Amino acid sequence: MKGIILAGGAGSRLFPLTLVASKQLQPIYDKPMVYYPLTTLIENGIREICLISTPHDLPRFRQLLGDGSRWGVTFDYREQARPAGIAQAFLIADTFIGNSAVTLILGDNVFYGADTFQAAFSGFREGATVFAYHVHDPHRYGVVEFDKNGLAVSIEEKPKHPKSNYAVPGIYIFDNEVVQTARNQKPSARGELEITDTNLSYLHRGKLRVHQLGRGFAWLDAGTSSSLHEASAYVQTIEKRQGIKIGCPEEAAFRRGFLSLEQLRSTTDQIPNCEYRDYLESIIAEAKRLQS
Ligand code: DAU
Repeated sequence: MKGIILAGGAGSRLFPLTLVASKQLQPIYDKPMVYYPLTTLIENGIREICLISTPHDLPRFRQLLGDGSRWGVTFDYREQARPAGIAQAFLIADTFIGNSAVTLILGDNVFYGADTFQAAFSGFREGATVFAYHVHDPHRYGVVEFDKNGLAVSIEEKPKHPKSNYAVPGIYIFDNEVVQTARNQKPSARGELEITDTNLSYLHRGKLRVHQLGRGFAWLDAGTSSSLHEASAYVQTIEKRQGIKIGCPEEAAFRRGFLSLEQLRSTTDQIPNCEYRDYLESIIAEAKRLQS
């Protein structure tokens, strides 16, 4: 399974923050936003990652993320010339995807909850798997409608009159047919290749699975000033209370076995003295204690 982080877009809703750094480089509490979706990919065992952003912002992402070796992953950077739709990611990344299945995650989506995606990832064979999350404002999202047996029967993009409260979050698992599916798509009325149309194509072919995310799970998107602030407050609350970090790719890479303890040590050695480093030091100390 390969992964794509889509981190482009105009960022107009966060103006003037986005004048010099794109939305996905803005902080959510103590880390850049893109660390959170990156951590989600790593937690789910994905180590070949394509990051797509604008020609203007791509150099900044390279500067921030490098070649990925400090997390035991590889990055392939690709440009999206203009925001022509989320599903365009599959066309931009077609040679990266090759013959693989692929997970697309939006660079402004934050997920937090115990092992939630694990079953969906480990059970994935073919078709497409997306998720559904109960929200109070479904008209802002792709909205999925279920029948009485819990089967998805429709998905609508930002409907005026949503048929349910279940929004589709910005993480999608597809088999390799997604590239051809995206090639066959036509731009929507707003001129974009819509991810909802990609999902609908799978739904109509009877190949879409929709997992409902449970109550204890948090999905936050940080697309507006308010939701950015709320996401920061949420992360701060959990981190302060529990003494653990959300969206820490070094930790995820170590726990997933992408980094040995020695490699985590050398990654940590390159970080200046700060609270983030202290956290990694505590993970190393605990791992050493368990080893002895
Ligand atoms: O957050 C989940 C929602 O994301 C889904 O429920 C919707 O079905 C899906 O269309 C999308 O809705 P948004 O209104 O959030 O899409 P937006 O245009 O804001 O783009 C989401 C992210 O993807 C944003 O960080 C910018 C990036 N993006 C978007 C487009 C259209 C790109 O990098 N390139 C693009 O062409």
